[in-house]
Amino acid sequence: MTDVKREQLLSALKTINHPKLNKNIVDLGIVQGLVVKDGAVGFALNIDPSEVDMMEKLRGSCDRLLMQVDGVTKVTSVLTAERDSKDEPPKPGFGEKRAFGGHGTPPPAQGPAAIPGVKHVIAVASGKGGVGKSTTSINLALAFSRLGLKAGIFDLDIYGPSVPRLMGLPDARPESLGDGKITPLKNYDIVSMSIGYLMEKDAATIWRGPMVMGAIQQMLRDVKWDLFGPIDVLVLDLPPGTGDAQLTMVQNIRLDGAVIVSTPQDLALIDARKAITMFDKTKTKIFGIIENMSYFICPHCGERSDIFSHGGACETAKEKHMDFLGSIPLDMDIRSTSDDGKPIVISQPESPHTKAYIEIADKILEKLH
Ligand SMILES: Nc1ncnc2c1ncn2[C@@H]1O[C@H](COP(=O)(O)OP(=O)(O)O)[C@@H](O)[C@H]1O
Ligand SMILES: [Mg+2]
Repeated sequence: MTDVKREQLLSALKTINHPKLNKNIVDLGIVQGLVVKDGAVGFALNIDPSEVDMMEKLRGSCDRLLMQVDGVTKVTSVLTAERDSKDEPPKPGFGEKRAFGGHGTPPPAQGPAAIPGVKHVIAVASGKGGVGKSTTSINLALAFSRLGLKAGIFDLDIYGPSVPRLMGLPDARPESLGDGKITPLKNYDIVSMSIGYLMEKDAATIWRGPMVMGAIQQMLRDVKWDLFGPIDVLVLDLPPGTGDAQLTMVQNIRLDGAVIVSTPQDLALIDARKAITMFDKTKTKIFGIIENMSYFICPHCGERSDIFSHGGACETAKEKHMDFLGSIPLDMDIRSTSDDGKPIVISQPESPHTKAYIEIADKILEKLH
């Protein structure tokens, strides 16, 4: 394969002028975050939010042009809108500055948008990372499918997208449908989308906040969720935490409700309380709390140990007048099946853990109706 150089791509893009300003988009600083790896190119166009339509056309022209460059096999681009000075150094994390649709711009007149082709949307949140939010999200989506619903999972955890791996599709790529839409990825009878399918591994670390938000806006707009039939329930795997980024996402998508995943440790619970406050702020209904890694059953003697003083999530739920949706034990099989891309609900359909996920999914459905 021809080794594509970043400079080659930049000089190609320099032949494209901004439609209104008589200068090329590279020198204007509109092209940002250009990366290329093994022929796959990714970049963002930093635009004025009032010019979305015009710049969307320009984005298409850029993509087509770059596809002509020798050795380029794929182009992924997004529009972002960052209003601050270009000279400002990039900030770590995202959410400090906002993409269009975020806090920094007036909210869309129609409020949070419904996702076309999707009936119900449920967010899975946690105060901090590593509590098992993604594991819970995928197993819940699979549990909804077991309950006879068309389910999907939408991975919004930009800096740790784990859905491609959990779906057993680590190298999958969406296909373009030609009308600006892209296909969701299907496996185990559920559909999924993740920024992990769109960018090269580890690229997230170099994407700046507004680009990330732009990518999310684009996924919301462009994924044809109902390609394989209308979706009854879409599970959103939110990034951990309760900062501005999460708030912006929650404000931009019409949610039916949220579930909060927590481990029993006090610290995690304190953070879960913050997540609850965030959903209260956006008037999102909270369906309840799931306690993950709740207890441990010794695989040798069958004895149960409450390693993290089990029951804390249940207490928090009571205190907040919220429902406790159930506990999932700390179990090697839950981890290993996820690592293998065959989550437990699909690989051990009759196990007690699978039953626990299905019971939780069932409780959520009751609340949806
Ligand atoms: N109930 C559980 N039992 C055992 N391991 C778990 C359980 N839930 C999650 N894990 C493991 O913990 C790690 C973090 O889980 P993950 O779902 O990626 O968390 P998050 O999305 O909150 O960062 C993963 O290795 C996962 O397999
Ligand atoms: Mg995760």
